Amino acid sequence: MPLSWVICLILVLVDLLGGVRGEVGNFSPCLHFFYKGSPPKGLGSGPGWSKICQRYKNQYRFASLYRSQWRSPLYSAYIFTPGGMKRPPTQWKYEPQLASSSASPNMKPFPPEVLDQNVLDSQAVLPDYTNSSYTKGHLSPNLHHRDLLDKKATFTLTNVVPQKAGSNGGPWAQLEALVRARLTDYCTGPAFVVTGQLPYAQPTSINNRVAVPEYLWSAYCCPTYNHSLPGGLQETFPTFAAMGRNDPLSSQEIVPVNSSARATVRGYDVRSMPLKILEKYLEQRLGEPVHVFSECCSGAGD
Ligand SMILES: *[C@@H]1O[C@H](CO)[C@@H](O)[C@H](O)[C@H]1NC(C)=O
Ligand SMILES: *[C@@H]1O[C@H](CO)[C@@H](O)[C@H](O)[C@H]1NC(C)=O
Ligand SMILES: *[C@@H]1O[C@H](CO)[C@@H](O)[C@H](O)[C@H]1NC(C)=O
Repeated sequence: MPLSWVICLILVLVDLLGGVRGEVGNFSPCLHFFYKGSPPKGLGSGPGWSKICQRYKNQYRFASLYRSQWRSPLYSAYIFTPGGMKRPPTQWKYEPQLASSSASPNMKPFPPEVLDQNVLDSQAVLPDYTNSSYTKGHLSPNLHHRDLLDKKATFTLTNVVPQKAGSNGGPWAQLEALVRARLTDYCTGPAFVVTGQLPYAQPTSINNRVAVPEYLWSAYCCPTYNHSLPGGLQETFPTFAAMGRNDPLSSQEIVPVNSSARATVRGYDVRSMPLKILEKYLEQRLGEPVHVFSECCSGAGD
């Protein structure tokens, strides 16, 4: 047998042993959602992570890094598009390939009947959130997408973390609106966004199933932008980052609390910060140096 065949055979075997092919298991079909085609470094190395190319009606919509043990994502990565104003009516969906690698590559609406055990084991389901005191917090939010099907695709529980209503309807919603306005006004090329959760140092969960984040975080990279920025925005291009509290009782070292805020949102503050500072906090909690964007979103060559 010629050597080239042997090499080819080995590659095929490695591919098969590598297990899941298709939409869960590999970011290669959806690398275009990452700046320079490069997923964040230092987030989700090691075993136990599922790379999901979020596919809906046969098109890729965004990407998520999911941990079945947490039954929630570490982050979702997407390209922001301006003009996506209204939340569409849609059903909540789940990811069939997390339950079985031979299942449909498209996300599917939750069926009315009871789901099979493989689905229950591999991911969060709607009853996890019922009566939990947490809302379903989007990482890739529908308001950052213009296309109707892109918007609908954000309503999958693999893009959701347990988020307190005070954050989801308060400062975090304001951050999403501010980022949307700023990117719409000043970003002249693609804007790559990565939004994720920071778990508690002592894992905390709903019903011993769905990991609850202590903080949410978000960062964008907009390498081509309008350089005539107003004063306060000079530091917010090409990159920007923020962290938001999801627990009023957390210490104030990462994000301080505004004690004069309205009671319904008090303790859910969001702090804007340079990307480097966000990466430092992620490294401290997750244990590895983190680089959210390749070459720090230098924009070189863009
Ligand atoms: C939520 O609480 C209500 C009222 O206590 C109860 O009837 C219902 O079964 C609960 N649902 C779930 C999914 O736990
Ligand atoms: C850049 O921003 C300035 C000030 O906001 C505005 O006047 C100008 O038209 C913008 N240029 C482009 C190319 O969008
Ligand atoms: C704290 O909240 C109050 C009430 O919303 C607001 O007026 C004030 O500007 C906030 N302070 C800071 C430092 O954000």
